[in-house]
Amino acid sequence: MLKDDILKLKKEKNAVILGHCYQNIEIDEVADFVGDSLYLSQMAAKTNADVIIFAGVYFMAQTAKIISPKKRVFLPNMNSGCLMSDMINLEQLREFKSQNKNIPVVCYVNSTAEVKSECDICCTSSNAVKIVNSLNTSEVLFCPDTYLGKWVESQLDNVKVKTYPGFCPTHLRIKPEDIVAAKEKYDNAKVLTHPECHKEVCKLSDFVGSTSQIMQYAKENNDKKYIIATEKGVVDRLKRDCPDKEFFLIKDNIVCPNMKQNTLEDIYNVLKNETNEIFVDENISKKALNCINRMLEVCK
Ligand code: 13P
Ligand code: SF4
Repeated sequence: MLKDDILKLKKEKNAVILGHCYQNIEIDEVADFVGDSLYLSQMAAKTNADVIIFAGVYFMAQTAKIISPKKRVFLPNMNSGCLMSDMINLEQLREFKSQNKNIPVVCYVNSTAEVKSECDICCTSSNAVKIVNSLNTSEVLFCPDTYLGKWVESQLDNVKVKTYPGFCPTHLRIKPEDIVAAKEKYDNAKVLTHPECHKEVCKLSDFVGSTSQIMQYAKENNDKKYIIATEKGVVDRLKRDCPDKEFFLIKDNIVCPNMKQNTLEDIYNVLKNETNEIFVDENISKKALNCINRMLEVCK
């Protein structure tokens, strides 16, 4: 069976498999760690394995390589990119900075190594408020996600967050009217939302947090019904983990097509053939590591 073959190869090659919670759910059966971006980057920093198979999108595997340059890192399917991270390149970042001089720059982890190499500190959706707050400044630049940046601003007193106009096409499909309609349809259901959504969507929600924070909230709360305003993978896992509760995906098409590219077969193939290895230019990697390490330092 494919799953057993993967587990065998994983052992032989001293590999770990990290899986994001938007992945196809069967990947959890072979993964060592499943979670949000912050948890997975912390696990990439801690592991003693020689090989990391990152079942996620390209920037996640790249981040793992930057954190652990001596390890071999592989992405199961090279078509698994993040549309948001590709919305800003180095030239666009430099232009953004030149229009807003002498302001610290925070980049969402959903960004390329090049972009990270010229930003001051990185953040994920679970720690963005904490990271911006840790800078003790009245103004920050935030890229690439304008919606996460504005969410952070709404959570802090007296910090102006100037955002780059990037966004997640999957989360932006969720409209405020979808939340209103779902609340009417599923009476008494709690609405749990990812901060990449529209500001008005966040405002209408009971809780806003990263993928892992959403899952933790639903698991720990006594409420029985939840409307989930993020990618379908979170709903699939909650249904599996909490059979006594009900979970409703806010609408049918909230699927990140790139996250769904990785399959068990791809994982088997990269483990066996050692294809799809991730490499990062040494200079860029060193500078990007500073940006990531500053974040990990704040969140240890
Ligand atoms: P998390 O940091 O919540 O895992 O989110 C990553 C992501 O890409 C959300 O679209
Ligand atoms: Fe990128 Fe959006 Fe997919 Fe997350 S859901 S990986 S931000 S495109």
